[in-house]
Amino acid sequence: MGSALHPPDHRAPADDPRTPSDVLPAQVRAAFPALAESTETYLDSAATTQKPGAVIETVRDYHAVATANAARGTYPWATALTQQIEAVRRRTARFVGAAHDDEIVFTAGATAALNAVALSWGLTALDDGDEILYGPTDHAANVHPWYLLRDTLARFGRRIELVPYRVLPDGRADTTDIAGKLSRRTRLLTVTHLHHVFGALNSLADIEDRIPGRVVRCYDCSQSGGHLPVDVTALGADFAVFAAHKMFAAPGTGVLYCRRRVHSALRPFLPGGGTDADLTADGFEAGRMPGLLEGGTPNIPGILALGTALGVLESFDMATIAAHNRALTLRLIDGLRPIPGLRFLPGPAQAADSTGHGILSFTVDGITAADLGFVLAEYGFLVRTGTHCVPGTAMDRESVRVSTHVYTGLDDIDRFVDRVRTLAEELS
Ligand code: ALA
Repeated sequence: MGSALHPPDHRAPADDPRTPSDVLPAQVRAAFPALAESTETYLDSAATTQKPGAVIETVRDYHAVATANAARGTYPWATALTQQIEAVRRRTARFVGAAHDDEIVFTAGATAALNAVALSWGLTALDDGDEILYGPTDHAANVHPWYLLRDTLARFGRRIELVPYRVLPDGRADTTDIAGKLSRRTRLLTVTHLHHVFGALNSLADIEDRIPGRVVRCYDCSQSGGHLPVDVTALGADFAVFAAHKMFAAPGTGVLYCRRRVHSALRPFLPGGGTDADLTADGFEAGRMPGLLEGGTPNIPGILALGTALGVLESFDMATIAAHNRALTLRLIDGLRPIPGLRFLPGPAQAADSTGHGILSFTVDGITAADLGFVLAEYGFLVRTGTHCVPGTAMDRESVRVSTHVYTGLDDIDRFVDRVRTLAEELS
């Protein structure tokens, strides 16, 4: 394993018949201390990823060496941090495919970033009668902010509509339904790029020419960021959000991408020290991005950790990570499919083509998802169970979710499948 600065060489010798998925996890596991020191099999990377040693060192070093605030003091400890944060902003812009560095805002997480869209854009941009198209089975972070926005606007006499769209049997957002529900009042279309339960990848490419330019597009990239290559410009996103802790970095840091064309419509949602704004005798003048949407002391170790994490991700190569997660998902589907009483939720198991992005959810007849999760944990398999933060009753059943990353091996999947098969046979 190399460091973020010295990428490892994951290539097998030319005459080695093994695939990258055979070779990769064993090489990289040692670089993730919590895995190296554990006998558990971590299958919950959609909840949070494991942290590489280089990221842990970055967080520690910030607290142990030259600790200061950023963008405030003029002494070297402070100015160096200011420069490092701007370097992470540049690196993040490149990593997500943003055209400009000022399109990248650091937030307290993906949830904070989606709420920032509601507060910074929605509160002022939406008029009486405007509509938001959304997916009701998306994560609460991509549903609750729009409900609160509707409620808040109603208190000031503006009534907006929330229009839900359907999901296909393979877990993808139904773009035909979306296109049919676009109206002259649609102002925001919000989509989850990689669904956190279904593991299906969404794009609006097939209805591109039916989406009017006035419709603002928001992508929740919490699960795709750091798991597969993401290009916000190619997606046509106006807003996109990322969770650093699902990209090998630390909780408490997120990224909000705001395409330049929406900048003039934005107002601060968290004004404070460092916010780019002017107070006037009778008002408040919003300044420029990205300082417009940032306020208060930033999560300095979190942002620095994100910078290190992006280097680690790039050292593996995002296309290689995506191919590995696909191989794991297909192996999982093939292994689980014949098990009696096992039922897949919508997702890649129902897809017409061989697809998979490292997330798969299922139930087993005769046992609740929570109980199955407890039993699996007894055998060392760490999975998430429940309705996975989908709000209300939109998710019709609880399930077990398996999610993988570069440190997950095909051997992990095989042992997991064997255990589920044994449990299912004991139940039937
Ligand atoms: N949003 C995270 C998940 O899906 C926590 O598990």
